[in-house]
Amino acid sequence: MESKETLVGQPVATRDLPAAKLSGATVRFGTYTAIEHLDLEIEAGAFYTILGPSGCGKSTLLRLVSDLIPAASGEVCVFGKSTEEARLAREFAFVFQDAALLPWRTALENVELPLEIGRKRNVRIPVGPRNPRELLELVGLKGRENALPHELSGGMRQRVAIARALLCQPKLLLMDEPFGALDEMTRDRLNLQLLEIWRETGTTILFVTHSISEAVFLGQKVIMLSANPGRLREVVDIELPEPREMKLRDTSDFTRHCAYLRELLETC
Ligand SMILES: Nc1ncnc2c1ncn2[C@@H]1O[C@H](COP(=O)(O)OP(=O)(O)O)[C@@H](O)[C@H]1O
Ligand SMILES: [Mg+2]
Repeated sequence: MESKETLVGQPVATRDLPAAKLSGATVRFGTYTAIEHLDLEIEAGAFYTILGPSGCGKSTLLRLVSDLIPAASGEVCVFGKSTEEARLAREFAFVFQDAALLPWRTALENVELPLEIGRKRNVRIPVGPRNPRELLELVGLKGRENALPHELSGGMRQRVAIARALLCQPKLLLMDEPFGALDEMTRDRLNLQLLEIWRETGTTILFVTHSISEAVFLGQKVIMLSANPGRLREVVDIELPEPREMKLRDTSDFTRHCAYLRELLETC
């Protein structure tokens, strides 16, 4: 199978293994079943968005894949490894809705944080081809390296969090409503930027959103979950031209995809 060459010449997403594979995965919190018997295969290098009613298990799915919570039954593999092995090998990184930056550290120092923690614990952190400064440049924050989080806008703080997540060149990026708290214009800009980063790095992205148009704009595939308990409803292919541009959202094809997902969501 081919491996994808990034612009910096590093093979990132080897294509022979799925980025994630869930087989009959079930998650329980006490007696409550949050996810029930989920079968799902995430193709390496692709951009997936996840939609579903509030409380249907979107965050739980990301937490399951990232080894934050265990499966009660079934199996979850990340690039052919157990979720724990994949976590230890830093195969994936997580970006939350809240940038979760340390307020007393500059943007650059926040991106460097995983390296510092690794040094203190005597753990070798496998870094990617870009250093923290270059990662800040990649997310459009050149010149703001020394700014403290409170000196940055919400969108900029999220970009710092993305730069930090990219430090170890993760093959899988898990994003839980990362732009959900931002205004629409900022979100649009960050959507375009994220697509550029995705193309350039070759990483696989699993991106949770509650916005149908964001899901369609970003995703090559949309994973629709249904609620109570969380189950896979449908994986919808988004057949829209690449690279995605803003004007795409004014096309009838785009509207058609949104309408289909809106109807589907009503039955979830
Ligand atoms: N740590 C937890 N303990 C108990 N119940 C939880 C926990 N985390 C999530 N849940 C429940 O599991 C369901 C799915 O939650 P979540 O994945 O956060 O939903 P979503 O992200 O789709 O809105 C919800 O009913 C939620 O209340
Ligand atoms: Mg959630």
